[in-house]
Amino acid sequence: MAKTALVTGASGGIGGAIAKRLSVMGYSLILMYGSNDAGIKALAESLTSGSNVEAVRCDFKDGASLDSVSRLLNEKHKDIEVIIHAAGISKRELFHEMSPEDFENLISVNIRPLYYITRALIPEMIEKGTGDIISISSIWGSRAASMEVAYAMTKGALEQFTRGLAAELSHMGVRVNAIAPGGIDTEILSNLSISEKDEFLSDIPFKRLGRPDEIADLVEFLLTKGRYMTGQVITMDGGYTL
Ligand SMILES: NC(=O)c1ccc[n+]([C@@H]2O[C@H](COP(=O)([O-])OP(=O)(O)OC[C@H]3O[C@@H](n4cnc5c(N)ncnc54)[C@H](OP(=O)(O)O)[C@@H]3O)[C@@H](O)[C@H]2O)c1
Repeated sequence: MAKTALVTGASGGIGGAIAKRLSVMGYSLILMYGSNDAGIKALAESLTSGSNVEAVRCDFKDGASLDSVSRLLNEKHKDIEVIIHAAGISKRELFHEMSPEDFENLISVNIRPLYYITRALIPEMIEKGTGDIISISSIWGSRAASMEVAYAMTKGALEQFTRGLAAELSHMGVRVNAIAPGGIDTEILSNLSISEKDEFLSDIPFKRLGRPDEIADLVEFLLTKGRYMTGQVITMDGGYTL
């Protein structure tokens, strides 16, 4: 029977690349997204033929909907072996100028799904004694991030979720890891001006942004070769933080 993976942020650059790779690896897919219907349709059509694909639209800013969709997923799918938490938003702003709404949105999209979706799906993983949870953090999850303090707070929470849950589930066959990218060429970087992007690029030793499929490479590694790893946050940033 095909294994099933759930990917949040599947309509985005990184989530989409991971979904494509999981499809090639033979997984059936549950693609979660916020609002980009056209993007998710295009992704579903591009996937390896034969993959069983279900798209689930859920705006994580709506807490009640996130909770009910998570519960429905648990009722309907007893075969999810992989959860990829790739949904995320960022906001570049001085901390004291950020509106309460923007702050709450960061918490809702970047942190709340870690709790609601994971909580709903873990019991089946524990029962089967196998499962992988991989979340997308950021280099700012463990470093000082001027202008992105609130975003960095959410990624710091994601990294502690990763380490704590890995410890809690380590003797139950469920592995929990995270990837901390530097600059990856996706829509989320559109919040940088052209000059900010140029400055960022010149500070990356590899002199280029990463590609979403390079993050997918690491996900594939964790699911295949990296079976003796849990609780790890792996940085992929072209040398930016060295
Ligand atoms: N690209 C980078 O340089 C970089 C670096 C470090 C970390 N990251 C992290 O990587 C992850 C993926 O980012 P990306 O680069 O792929 O960005 P992206 O292309 O902008 O994708 C973001 C994804 O998050 C989803 N999302 C946004 N708001 C949502 C909401 N309210 N409810 C549900 N889903 C929502 C989007 O869905 P819809 O568009 O359908 O709403 C989209 O699928 C994020 O967690 C980000 O923080 C990215």
